[in-house]
Amino acid sequence: MGRLFNPRGVAVVGASTNPGKIGYRIVENMVKSGYIGQIYPINPKGGEILGWTVHRSLADVQGDVDVAVLSVPANHVPAAVADCAAKGVGHLVVVTSGFSEIGNIAQEKEIVSIAHAHGMRVLGPNIFGIYSASCRLDATFGPGGILPGHVAIITQSGALGIAMIGKTAAESLGLSALISVGNKSDIDEADLLTYLAEDPETRVVLLYIEGVKNGERLVRTLRHVTKRKHVVVIKSGRSARGAMAAASHTGSLAGADDVFDDIMRQCGVLRAESVQEAFNWVRFFATAPLPSGEDAVIVTNGGGIGVLATDACEKYGVRLYDNQPILANAFAEVMPEFGSSKNPVDLTGQATSEDYARSLDAVFARADMHAAVALYCETALFDTSQFATLLRSMYRKYESTKPIVFALFGGARMEAMIRELRSEGIPVFGDVYEAVSVLGALYRSARRLAEEDDDEQTTHDIDLERIRQVLGRAGAEGRGFLLAYEAAEVASALGLRMPRSILSRDLDEAVRAAETIGYPVVMKIVSKDIVHKSDAGGVALDLEDRDEVVDAYQAIMRSCLRYKPDAVMEGVEVVEMVRSGVETIVGARQDPSFGPVAMFGLGGIYVEVMKDVSFRAAPITARVAREMIGSIRSYPLLLGVRGERRKDIGAAADVVMRLGQLIAECREITDMEVNPLMVYDYGEGVKAVDVRILFHTQGGDAA
Ligand code: ACO
Repeated sequence: MGRLFNPRGVAVVGASTNPGKIGYRIVENMVKSGYIGQIYPINPKGGEILGWTVHRSLADVQGDVDVAVLSVPANHVPAAVADCAAKGVGHLVVVTSGFSEIGNIAQEKEIVSIAHAHGMRVLGPNIFGIYSASCRLDATFGPGGILPGHVAIITQSGALGIAMIGKTAAESLGLSALISVGNKSDIDEADLLTYLAEDPETRVVLLYIEGVKNGERLVRTLRHVTKRKHVVVIKSGRSARGAMAAASHTGSLAGADDVFDDIMRQCGVLRAESVQEAFNWVRFFATAPLPSGEDAVIVTNGGGIGVLATDACEKYGVRLYDNQPILANAFAEVMPEFGSSKNPVDLTGQATSEDYARSLDAVFARADMHAAVALYCETALFDTSQFATLLRSMYRKYESTKPIVFALFGGARMEAMIRELRSEGIPVFGDVYEAVSVLGALYRSARRLAEEDDDEQTTHDIDLERIRQVLGRAGAEGRGFLLAYEAAEVASALGLRMPRSILSRDLDEAVRAAETIGYPVVMKIVSKDIVHKSDAGGVALDLEDRDEVVDAYQAIMRSCLRYKPDAVMEGVEVVEMVRSGVETIVGARQDPSFGPVAMFGLGGIYVEVMKDVSFRAAPITARVAREMIGSIRSYPLLLGVRGERRKDIGAAADVVMRLGQLIAECREITDMEVNPLMVYDYGEGVKAVDVRILFHTQGGDAA
């Protein structure tokens, strides 16, 4: 990737003298941005563009061409790629549209295969180009004027990316790189992130993603990059498309966006709600020092705005310094009698610029106060122009020491001051929530950067061969799902504890089974023709004695035959009645974007209403399993409420890891879930009450 970001020479194939054409704009931006390498405009007509000689063909170029930007119509692209191959070009930046995005997949593949055959990599097609600050290359057809800096933007959306160029300039946000990935035919986010992780100019990466291709690789890369740089993502499409088609709870709960959200968190990536929020964060990350701790101090001249900021701190996870005697002492000199040093440190409406300065000095003098949130409400007593000067000097004095953010509230003069200070790169906001949000985001990213290395992946002893045999037998019958006893066999090969169960062919066997297991028992119909057993009246619970087993057996047979008169009944399964515990659900599936994914959540009949679940990319380490269990809203139930004992969270985590390992190793399983997984008191383990498994039959689909 090095040569893509630092090319010695760049050819623009399809360069034009017509200022209305993209091929002209790209050359113009390259010239205007002051690209330090050689520019080779290519056009059969020859001539000159902005002082650069136009070559009639690439073959005429004498120097090295590390990058060729292609801006010729789609049908000319394959020939141009062949010319690039002949010239020994390293990277192709294919601006042209009209490939896989409109269904022209074959031609896109053709381009990539010619390129790969000649050792070239392809960026695009369907992109607006690339910007690289290190060689001052703006090879885009954007509006120009990109400021060099430390934020790298990778964007899938062309139009939004171009608009971001203007916005970064307007917000004085400096970029180290800007890359449009378009159709991602070859180079994708993972390739670029791998490069940017090592790029000394890049401190922050901002990703705009619409859809994830090859998510498993992206997850691996992101986990690596977030240990080195701040990574922020904006993803469009929060809707749960695709969930409807899913055949299991795990599937229907796995709204594409929830999975994305959880997996980004797993990777240590911060997801912004909006472009503005993302810009606020990356701008702050680009300059702010990492906090040495998490105790912040709010300095304000208004009680109300201080309370708002306190609420915002709670929302964004910003902890407030709370040693009251030290606070009282630290601010004693500046505090009027009716003020408060109780963090928010309220200097009251009569505070002067000097009071502010001395308060911030006090915060920065103490090593145990790690960040400052300075708030100001416009008052008639205060000279605003003087305040701007003070704020600027305070910021410059401390910007490399501790994170500091400002929120100012007032009229037109205030608004103008905010704009002015922001244009100088000072983190000033017109809203306390925005100010605290950037600090909270910095804390979260800093926690990830400081995290110890990922824990080792534990490999469980899973009998994969036996599992594959069960799948093979069911597949041979043309089924993409397992019957209960088959699923139980898989569960046992997976090392899960299930209730005791005996398959009985007739009434006598059922009675004997119940007596062997011990009352109370549960009885369930076993029939390939009945998938939804409860709907068919095929389940009877809590059978206390022989008579109840006999009655239930007959009732089950009657109602199942009524439900499906031609159903073939193989018998009934007599199962130990499981004592109750905390009902959870553990699932695993092949996610269309991220591949193997595991799920943990609160189970039971309200699972789909509560949607209290969390997802992680599999396989799952012990730490991730614990963390995903701890992230559901109902987690306190597992910790034990109202004097109950703590539950066996370790045993539940073990099940999550086992399912994660199976779904990652056995790709033919498309969906599986244990629902409910009863979690008992600490030391008493868990029980997998029901297990469902869907899989791909050879050459066919899952049920
Ligand atoms: N080698 C060199 N030059 C060539 C070749 C060739 N093989 N073939 C044609 N040319 C010349 C043409 O003669 C023309 O030069 P001229 O202006 O001197 O006549 C120039 O290359 C461009 O060719 P045109 O046929 O004029 O094509 P045009 O510039 O109109 O369009 C383009 C080409 C821009 C690639 C178009 O096909 C396209 O794909 N547009 C969409 C681009 C886009 O939006 N990408 C996504 C960005 S992100 C977003 O959504 C904003």
